[in-house]
Amino acid sequence: MSEYLDKAFTPAKLGNLQLKNRIIKAATYEGKTPDGVPGELLQTFHKEVVAGGVAMTTIGYCTTEADGRINDQMMWLHEGVRPQLTSMIRELKTVSPDVTVSGQMTHCGNFSKIRKMQRLKRPLGPSKAFNMLGAASGAPFAGAMTIKDIDYLVQTYRDAALLMKDVGFDAAEIHFGHGYGLSQFISPRTNKRTDEYGGSLENRMRLPLRVLEAVKTAVGDGFPIMGKMNMTDGVGDGIHLEEAIEIAAMFDSGGIDALICSGGTSPFNPMVYFRGDSLAVGLIEQQTNPIAKLGLKLIGSKMFKDYPYYELYFLEDAKKIRDRVDCQMVYIGGCTELESLETVMKEGFDFVQLGRPLIKDPNYVINAMADGNYKNGCTHCNLCASLIEAPGGIRCPLNE
Ligand SMILES: Cc1cc2nc3c(=O)[nH]c(=O)nc-3n(C[C@H](O)[C@H](O)[C@H](O)COP(=O)(O)O)c2cc1C
Ligand code: SF4
Repeated sequence: MSEYLDKAFTPAKLGNLQLKNRIIKAATYEGKTPDGVPGELLQTFHKEVVAGGVAMTTIGYCTTEADGRINDQMMWLHEGVRPQLTSMIRELKTVSPDVTVSGQMTHCGNFSKIRKMQRLKRPLGPSKAFNMLGAASGAPFAGAMTIKDIDYLVQTYRDAALLMKDVGFDAAEIHFGHGYGLSQFISPRTNKRTDEYGGSLENRMRLPLRVLEAVKTAVGDGFPIMGKMNMTDGVGDGIHLEEAIEIAAMFDSGGIDALICSGGTSPFNPMVYFRGDSLAVGLIEQQTNPIAKLGLKLIGSKMFKDYPYYELYFLEDAKKIRDRVDCQMVYIGGCTELESLETVMKEGFDFVQLGRPLIKDPNYVINAMADGNYKNGCTHCNLCASLIEAPGGIRCPLNE
């Protein structure tokens, strides 16, 4: 095994947390929490990933409050799921005592499919907006958050982080990207505010940095906080690399332990972070709401633009951020082949997050360690991603 592949499979510290190697399962919302409850389905999925040798698995898309969900099957971090989360993390550590577990804290902000929300009347973001996702379920509008709403949101992140630490998570990842709630504040495309939370980059970063500070203060030093951010929104009036480099520097100064640099926005241009075959085909097939199905047929090709897949599609941009910050860097995006893993390590990234390669082969790590000619086999057809709302959630149909 080469020096750099060897590096990928040897222990390293994420902040103050010891990891047995440098491979982390990326957050991939799995659609395996029926009625928002993390039970057997989710546990079985992550047990397989853990048994396959990753150093850390990530429970994707855990929202910080009920109204942060995009659909009513998503889990939100609250006391009601404390027993299930505690037992799931205990079970995962039974499979592999030295595995670590992270959770992605997120909030949908201004787009949700949920018609009847719990606390709010309609989804809220930085500014009034059209809630494209909610149009088919009869909730087409999103409102603008008041200062009280902003303060409340910060509190939900703090409380969620404390709960995560309490139930046994080892680390957390804050989702600052992909067009979700905090990303909507960072992006000039969605943030049209004229108060201290909008306008200049400093103002647009005020809420994300408040969230980071609240979470870090709540959990303390032994519990690393990663941040997933956009290097581009993939839309003309959104953020681009130059501004993203400054955003990364601000997170770095704000005390983030590690950055995961991605791009694209779920509601406007998700193929930036997926690459490969369009999600439209699978989503149209899976959609049960006739209005949403028609909508997808009409706007599918506009929303899911053509972004051909190539290995390490975020590497060149991520290197520019690596050069600007002191915090640790976690590479994400198209690290399917072993040569790519080797390159990422050679380029000085501390860790790598794998999404689809681990959906295709949960045993990626043990297989790659045993065979220098290992091939993963993921074709980037993205069918797994079109199954997130299908019964039973995601799977790789190529494995059947
Ligand atoms: C099924 C599926 C679900 C995803 N869900 C999330 C999510 O909940 N949060 C997130 O930040 N990214 C999500 N992603 C994006 C991945 O985390 C990752 O950024 C992307 O798949 C690129 O990495 P890869 O080439 O290793 O798959 C998802 C991807 C897939 C395939
Ligand atoms: S369905 Fe399988 S092959 Fe297709 S992108 Fe997902 S993991 Fe890869």
